[in-house]
Amino acid sequence: MSVVTYHLKDAIGVITIDNPPVNAMSHAVRSGLVDALDTAAEDDSQALLIICKGRTFIAGADISEFGKPPKSPTLRDMLDMLDSHPKLTVAAIHGTALGGGFETALCCNYRCALDTAKVGLPEVKLGLLPGAGGTQRTPRLAGAADAITLITQGNPMPAEQALTSGLIDQVVQGDLLAGAVDYVHRLIAEDAPRRRARDLPFSLSDEDREAIASARKSLAKKTRGEHAPQRILDCIEAAATLDFNSGLARERELFDACMTDPQSAAMRHMFFAERQAAKIQGMDPSVAPRDIGSVGIIGAGTMGGGIAMCFAQAGIPVTLLDMNSDAVTAGLDRIRKNYAISVKRGRFSEEQVNAIMANIEGSSDYADLAETDLVIEAVFENLAVKQDVFRSLDSVCKADAILASNTSYQSIDDIAAVTSRPQSVLGTHFFSPANVMKLLEVVRGAQTDDEIIATAMAVGKKIGKVPVLAGMCYGFIGNRMLRSYGREAQLCLIEGATPAQIDGAMERWGMAMGPIAVGDLAGLDIGYKAREQLTPEQKGKPASYIVADRLVEMGRLGQKSGAGYYQYDPETRARIEDPSVIELAAQCAAELGIKQRSITDEEIVDRLTLALANEGARILEEGIAQRASDIDVVYCFGYGFPRHRGGPMWTIEARGLDNAVQRMKALGNSLDADNWQVAPLLQQLAESGESLKDWQ
Ligand code: 3HC
Repeated sequence: MSVVTYHLKDAIGVITIDNPPVNAMSHAVRSGLVDALDTAAEDDSQALLIICKGRTFIAGADISEFGKPPKSPTLRDMLDMLDSHPKLTVAAIHGTALGGGFETALCCNYRCALDTAKVGLPEVKLGLLPGAGGTQRTPRLAGAADAITLITQGNPMPAEQALTSGLIDQVVQGDLLAGAVDYVHRLIAEDAPRRRARDLPFSLSDEDREAIASARKSLAKKTRGEHAPQRILDCIEAAATLDFNSGLARERELFDACMTDPQSAAMRHMFFAERQAAKIQGMDPSVAPRDIGSVGIIGAGTMGGGIAMCFAQAGIPVTLLDMNSDAVTAGLDRIRKNYAISVKRGRFSEEQVNAIMANIEGSSDYADLAETDLVIEAVFENLAVKQDVFRSLDSVCKADAILASNTSYQSIDDIAAVTSRPQSVLGTHFFSPANVMKLLEVVRGAQTDDEIIATAMAVGKKIGKVPVLAGMCYGFIGNRMLRSYGREAQLCLIEGATPAQIDGAMERWGMAMGPIAVGDLAGLDIGYKAREQLTPEQKGKPASYIVADRLVEMGRLGQKSGAGYYQYDPETRARIEDPSVIELAAQCAAELGIKQRSITDEEIVDRLTLALANEGARILEEGIAQRASDIDVVYCFGYGFPRHRGGPMWTIEARGLDNAVQRMKALGNSLDADNWQVAPLLQQLAESGESLKDWQ
């Protein structure tokens, strides 16, 4: 069946696109549109309406076609036809009109949309810019300020706002086709001109110029290292300074530069990786997730409170439980304070916060959890304490309740073992701050039922997280890899790099925060205590953490004690390099018989990223992660790994597995031979020329 159909309705030529799931602008859709435009040009229709079936208007170009040779008609060919079509053209939008989909709508003379619809140009999230006129038409219709926000941030804009900003012309309620046909008839009756965005004037006021300059600065900071955001601003400037066709040509040039940029390949990989992560390999498709109508959280601390916020915001009632009413009150107060900040920043209104808070009930009585569907424990990171909580839960919770632990390191099996229902126990590992960070590791215990896993993945998505399935091992996916990464950072420090150099190298490369600064932020005592619990085998080379251990023993616990690897400005919390720490590292090196040397930024980045990927490959081979791209999702959504580098596994694949293995072997000849045992999977793939991406 054709994905594009054409019929006449009351003298209006209706072009209907039906290309599930999201009406992406595939080659078949473009061809169908060209045929329909040809037909409509010749028939008796007075006007043309473009509308879509299914859940949404066109959600953009078909991303799966990117990187392949272009096939005619291209999106631009089709849009040239639409833009110069002899009939009046109108787009009828529902769901989300995104990217090339919204650009198609922008090529129509008028746009109407359901009140629930959204429009947007999210290309920047794929390392791209709107390449079919979006950067030239949007500022002409909406002005520079809205264009900058819409295109550089990539977030969709609700219909009402789009109406105010001039991006759409009419909001419709109820039946879209009926409302749109009425609207087209009105336009015909009014003899509305065939208005084209390309013909509208656009110039930059002084205020606009300032807005562009300030966006350049803030984006350089916020999207550090990404090329697309700055190129988008170049395009918006071109829209004001060049005639329309020259502006389009400039947009094309910069779009092509983005398309061949490895950053976009990495971000497109992340787009599909995120969606892939939701799929559970080998699970019987008949397994359906359960509905979760209520949630209990044990532990009203920062973590428990953050988790409670996620569920309450999704409209799921939460019972937040702690040992006594003081702890519960303190927890609820902390949540209220968080929301007060959000209201100040305009993220929520007072009314929204009141509605969210109404979903959170405090309690210090386990009996209140008797009928709760899902309980998540978020207490102190200690096995015995957690086991006590699970014993209590097992005795009060209904038989089909799901019991989850937010542990970062403890064995889910040891926790499940104290209950009478190990099949209903799993790990749900949130990341701090839990109300902000998108990653959720869903940890499968040896006995966890598929239905429980499917439910946790589904509810994770419902509360806005990106769930990734992990198997059981110390640290699961993310924290296990973090140990190799952190250890390598420590070794660089002992060998002669300074904290500021290590953090600077990683941050310039794209990490949200360097590893040394992360240590200070998390608190150096946390790692210290965790190391105390490790077996000698888990600990690896004990000398690796010598500087960190000494700092803790000196009372330098990181930001919370005012100093760790760095000193901190008490007002701004800015890092201040501390010569005494550099001296301490030199002293530790001397004690270990290590001769300090100058280390390049390139070596730091190489060592840290290879250490991550090497451990990632082991995790993959052991079946702890389902696929290499899941590991990339964990790192990009949970650990500040730059999306435009595509995650640690994508990064190592992009540099070439053979090259990576050779480099690791060379590193193994230096000081740190033990840490550079190449993962057998990497060795095998490098030899066979196969890809990590395809390895299952
Ligand atoms: N191309 C190809 N496949 C797409 C796609 C696209 N543009 N958008 C979504 N899909 C696929 C997804 O991969 C997923 O496939 P799967 O079921 O096999 O995993 C399926 O459609 C459903 O997608 P979601 O799971 O994301 O569904 P949601 O309902 O949660 O979200 C959406 C729908 C808001 C449309 C979301 O999919 C989305 O944001 N899509 C991307 C939109 C986008 O980036 N468009 C711009 C493309 S670039 C462009 O247009 C260039 C132009 O300027 C020249």
